[in-house]
Amino acid sequence: MKIDAFKIEDWMNKYCPQAKYDLTSTCIEPLNINNLLEFNSAKDIFNQNLTYGDIQGSARLKSAIKSLYTNQELENITVTHGAIGANQLVFLSLLEKGDEVISILPAYQQHYSIPESLGAVVKKVFLREENNWLPDIEELEKVITKTTKLLIFTNPNNPTGAVIPDNMLEKIVEIAKMHNTWILSDEVYRGLNLYGNPYSKSIADIYDKGISTGSMSKTYSLPGLRVGWIAARGDLIKEIIRHREYNTISVSILDDYFAAVALENRAEIEKRNFKIMQEGINILKNGLESSPDIKCVLPQGGTTVLLKYNKDIPSKVLCEELLKKTGTAFLPGETFDMEGYLRAGYCVSKETLIKGLHHLTDFLQN
Ligand SMILES: Cc1ncc(COP(=O)(O)O)c(C=O)c1O
Repeated sequence: MKIDAFKIEDWMNKYCPQAKYDLTSTCIEPLNINNLLEFNSAKDIFNQNLTYGDIQGSARLKSAIKSLYTNQELENITVTHGAIGANQLVFLSLLEKGDEVISILPAYQQHYSIPESLGAVVKKVFLREENNWLPDIEELEKVITKTTKLLIFTNPNNPTGAVIPDNMLEKIVEIAKMHNTWILSDEVYRGLNLYGNPYSKSIADIYDKGISTGSMSKTYSLPGLRVGWIAARGDLIKEIIRHREYNTISVSILDDYFAAVALENRAEIEKRNFKIMQEGINILKNGLESSPDIKCVLPQGGTTVLLKYNKDIPSKVLCEELLKKTGTAFLPGETFDMEGYLRAGYCVSKETLIKGLHHLTDFLQN
């Protein structure tokens, strides 16, 4: 199976190790093992035998995942190697050569490169800044057809930080229903809305053909656990498990255990993360206020923001030069099909964010 290079991963692998101030991260300052051991329920880990564990994820973990949804049962959930594993399993289970797919961009490259590699016909629909990076419903109505098998988007969005309001989500479901189209909503940033309810509605809870993927990496600050999941209706989960058996066996028993503990204590993690997000937004506002060279739509959620710069210089060149001169790494828009923009993670450490933004504004000015 041929597949395009994953441009973001290639960039980060090459340049992030050189960065002193790394603003490419999409995670909220990760937690450590001591943080997890401090939760009362984490004391029994040392007697755990290192077996494969429960092959499809422990009932304890699946119950904790179920609590993130309003309308799911244990049999509607399967545990995967991160959201990256979850998305891949959805594509492998649903798509065949010639299937029509709509992918809303900018997005994690998995959302179009894997379907393309499976032979699907991928229609790319770009979000636009003038719509505050929200989907254009009329455009979607024009692009979708009776043969569109799958619509894919990310909510909250990486890289723009846009959050689809629940009423717009309902409208998208209505359109998909009319065309009998599945929806995959990558909800790896769900729970990170800055305003109103932190949790948007999940597509799996509001649509019979809605598939939600999520993970411990962003909302729960535990990317090192490599635990993700899929929530969808039972017949699709059965099909997904058939594929999963060929590539997963189980997630590590330690990952499963700590993920369950973290989700059982998620209120504390969410409180910590919300504080980091709010501090990040304030630093972002202050850092960009006086810069005539950068514009952005402030994020409504998620962990990233798209910065539009006003210089006629390719984003990769800008990022390479900036890294060389200041040790600061941003993600160039070219790596996610958005030339002229940079992506910044605003939930990194305060020092990194403050210095990184300062270096960028200074560099553009001079
Ligand atoms: C939209 C999106 N989906 C999936 C992933 C992969 O996440 P995980 O670490 O859970 O595999 C990422 C990681 O950056 C992401 O941004």
